[in-house]
Amino acid sequence: MVIFGASGDLTARKLMPALYNLALNRYLPAGFSVIGVALTPWTEQEFKTHMSEAATKYSRTQPVDRSVWQSFAEGLHYVAMTFDDMDGYGKLAATLDRLDRERGTGGNRVFYFATLPQFFAVIVDRLGASGVARAGEGWKRIIVEKPFGHDLKSAQELNRAIHAVFTERQVYRIDHYLGKETVQNVMVFRFANGIFEPIWNRRYVDHMQITVAEDLGIERRGAYYEKAGALRDIFQNHLLQLLSIVAMEPPANFDAEVVRDEKVKVLRSIHPINVETDAVRGQYGPGWVAGEQVVGYRQEDQVAPDSKTETYVATRLFIDNWRWAETPFYLRTGKRLPNRASEIAIQFKKAPHLPFAKTAVQDTSPNLLVMRIQPHEGASLKIAAKIPGPVMRLRTVNMDFFYGSSFLIESPDAYERLVLDCMLGDPTLFAREDEVERAWTLVDGVEAGWAAQPPPALPNYAAGTWGPEAADALMERDGRRWRRP
Ligand SMILES: NC(=O)c1ccc[n+]([C@@H]2O[C@H](COP(=O)([O-])OP(=O)(O)OC[C@H]3O[C@@H](n4cnc5c(N)ncnc54)[C@H](OP(=O)(O)O)[C@@H]3O)[C@@H](O)[C@H]2O)c1
Repeated sequence: MVIFGASGDLTARKLMPALYNLALNRYLPAGFSVIGVALTPWTEQEFKTHMSEAATKYSRTQPVDRSVWQSFAEGLHYVAMTFDDMDGYGKLAATLDRLDRERGTGGNRVFYFATLPQFFAVIVDRLGASGVARAGEGWKRIIVEKPFGHDLKSAQELNRAIHAVFTERQVYRIDHYLGKETVQNVMVFRFANGIFEPIWNRRYVDHMQITVAEDLGIERRGAYYEKAGALRDIFQNHLLQLLSIVAMEPPANFDAEVVRDEKVKVLRSIHPINVETDAVRGQYGPGWVAGEQVVGYRQEDQVAPDSKTETYVATRLFIDNWRWAETPFYLRTGKRLPNRASEIAIQFKKAPHLPFAKTAVQDTSPNLLVMRIQPHEGASLKIAAKIPGPVMRLRTVNMDFFYGSSFLIESPDAYERLVLDCMLGDPTLFAREDEVERAWTLVDGVEAGWAAQPPPALPNYAAGTWGPEAADALMERDGRRWRRP
C-alpha cells in the first residue's frame, strides 16, 4: 500500500491503527508493506517511530502488541517528495520494485489518497505518466478519500481525470460510514429476516428519520468547512448513503455491481428537493454543550464573522417509486447538537383499530424500529405491551439488541473493513461513479435554490440545542416530530 499523505492526520488516527489491527488479527499477508509518501523530510526510521506512536495512541486494541508491531513495522518505508515531482515517482517505482523482489508483494498495489482533495487529480496524473499505475504484474487499485468533488462539475472532472488512468473497477471511493458494522447490519436486518421486508414499504411505514448528529463543532477545520457546509460535508455522502441502503430494493445477490445498481436506483428516484418547502439550513451560535460553554460558529478560527455557511441541514425527501411513493424521508445533520448520535428510525403506521377501552391505553405510540449506528450500536423495536395487573392497561416497551452484549467481540473500525475489502477486490461498500454524481446533482439543486433566496437570519440555533425552529416546523407541518436520540 502506498499512502499519499503519510504524515497527515488521517494516516495517524485511522489508517495506521487500522493496518496494525488487521496485522494483529492475521488478515495481512506476511510480505505486506507500506510506502508512506509526503512532504515532511522524514527518514525511514523517523517514519516508523511516528507510526508506532500513532498506533500506540489510536489503536482500538490496547496495549499494542510489540512483537506484532515489530514484524509489521519491518514492512514500513518512506519516500519524501511533492506530489507533482516526477523524480519522486521514479524513487517510488524503485522502492515498489525492490519490495516485490524482497517481500514477494507480486506487483499488487493499493494507492491510498489520504491527502487534501486538490491533489487527487495530480497524483493520478503522475501515477499514469510515470508508469507506476500500470507497471508489472498484479492488480492496481486506488482508494480516494472524501470529499469527492465539491459539486457535480468538479466530481465529473475528477472522475474523468481518474478514468484517464484507472478503470472504474480499480477505483474505491471511501465513505467510512459504509464500513460501520451497523450500517452493514441494516442490509442483514432487511434481507436475512423474513419478517421485516414485507412491511418495509409505503403501506406500513409512516415515515423515516435519518439523523447524523454531532456534539462537536468544526474543530480546527474552519477553512475547509467555510467552503463545504453541512450539506456537502455530511448530507451528500453519509446521509444519502444511509438513505439508499435503507430504501433500496432487495438485491438479487451481494455482488458489488448488483448492490450498487440498487442503491443508485434509489438516488435516481429521489424527487428534486424544493428548498422553499423541504430544506432548512441552520448555523449554531454560542451555547452550552455537555456543561461546557462553547463559542458560536462565526467565532470559530478561520470562519468569517458574517459567514453564511450552514452547520445544520434538515430535508424532507420523497422517493418516486411504487415502494415509497408519498412516504416522507426526513434527513438531518448538524454540529453542536446536544449529543453525538447517528441513527435510522423507521416509524410504522399506527394499528388500524385499538379494541381496548380508551382509558386503559397509556402512552402507546405506533411501532418504531430504531437502528443505532453510533453510539450504543444496535437496534430497538418499540412495541405495545400490557402493564402487569388485573386490568388491561397498555404501555410502549422496547425490544433491544446491543452489539456490545450480544457479540462479546469488539467491532473492527470501519477503516479496517474497508481497507481489507479493497485489498480483496470487493468494492461493494464503496461509492461508484454514478452514485457520487447523482448525489451531487441533488445537492447542487439545493445549493442553487438556496443561492436564489436570501439566507435566514444566522445564527439560528444555540449550540447544545436540536437545531433551528424551522426544522421543527418542517415536521410539525406534517403532524410529526423529530426524535431526540
Ligand atoms: N483526518 C481525518 O480524520 C479525516 C476523516 C475523514 C476523511 N479525511 C480526508 O482524508 C484526507 C486527508 O486528511 P488529513 O486530515 O489527513 O489531512 P492532513 O493532516 O492535512 O494531511 C495532508 C497530507 O498530505 C501531505 N501533503 C500535502 N501537500 C503535499 C504536497 N504538495 N506534496 C506531498 N505531500 C503533501 C502532507 O504532508 P506534510 O504534512 O508532510 O507536508 C500530509 O501528509 C482529506 O481528503 C480529508 O478530507 C480525513
